[in-house]
Amino acid sequence: MDIAVIGAGNVGRSLTTAFRRAGHVVTIASSDPADSGAVAIATGARAAVSNLDAVRAADIVVLAIPFGSAAESLAREIAPAIAGKIVVDVTNPLNPTYDGLLTAGGPSAAEQFAAWLPGARVVKAFNTLFASVQADPIVDGVQLDAFVAGDDDVARTTILDLARSIGFRAMSVGPLARARELEAVAFLGIALQGTLGNTWHTAWKIVGVPAGVLEQAA
Ligand SMILES: NC(=O)c1ccc[n+]([C@@H]2O[C@H](COP(=O)([O-])OP(=O)(O)OC[C@H]3O[C@@H](n4cnc5c(N)ncnc54)[C@H](OP(=O)(O)O)[C@@H]3O)[C@@H](O)[C@H]2O)c1
Repeated sequence: MDIAVIGAGNVGRSLTTAFRRAGHVVTIASSDPADSGAVAIATGARAAVSNLDAVRAADIVVLAIPFGSAAESLAREIAPAIAGKIVVDVTNPLNPTYDGLLTAGGPSAAEQFAAWLPGARVVKAFNTLFASVQADPIVDGVQLDAFVAGDDDVARTTILDLARSIGFRAMSVGPLARARELEAVAFLGIALQGTLGNTWHTAWKIVGVPAGVLEQAA
């Protein structure tokens, strides 16, 4: 798959590492070209000269940027090149004090991206997985779950396949509206870090799923 990753922080680096390891073609962009350049050198990705350059090169665009400070302006920037592309929203829209979600009681970050990016096929994925496990999907001997929400069936199936290709058990959770719950689940994982030892290496896993069910639930 041809993938653009926007953002070269914890998530951009981990997902680019995982995608490249699985043989995907990745173009990475960031507000600081030194950061995207460093990730590109470390992973074999291409460093884009701009966010738009990265988007134009790809079929799948992964948004790995802070939501509150960057999302709407980034959406405006990439909107001219986004029609028909799959946009994967990995963000967790934390409030400025990190003790809640900016989106509480309203549309999720993913639904807001869908409104800002008409023509894009927006999917929520990977946001419940800490960066520490995004390129390392086995924890305590358990294969982690990647939850995927989206309204476009082909886009959702494509991202389920992408998640499987980098080692996760992939699970469709339904339409993009389910991103509200995915963002809440991710926030709970963040809020629990103090209780769970501050490893940032814990993860959510659904157990008890009968064999074969997930393959039918794309
Ligand atoms: N960290 C995790 O474990 C984790 C897990 C799941 C989801 N998430 C979510 O994923 C997103 C990224 O998290 P992170 O930990 O990777 O954050 P991070 O380490 O702060 O990285 C964010 C990256 O986005 C870049 N950026 C900011 N505005 C940009 C713009 N307009 N255009 C291009 N690049 C821009 C930043 O560049 P500068 O540094 O130059 O500003 C930085 O490279 C957040 O929404 C977070 O909630 C994080």
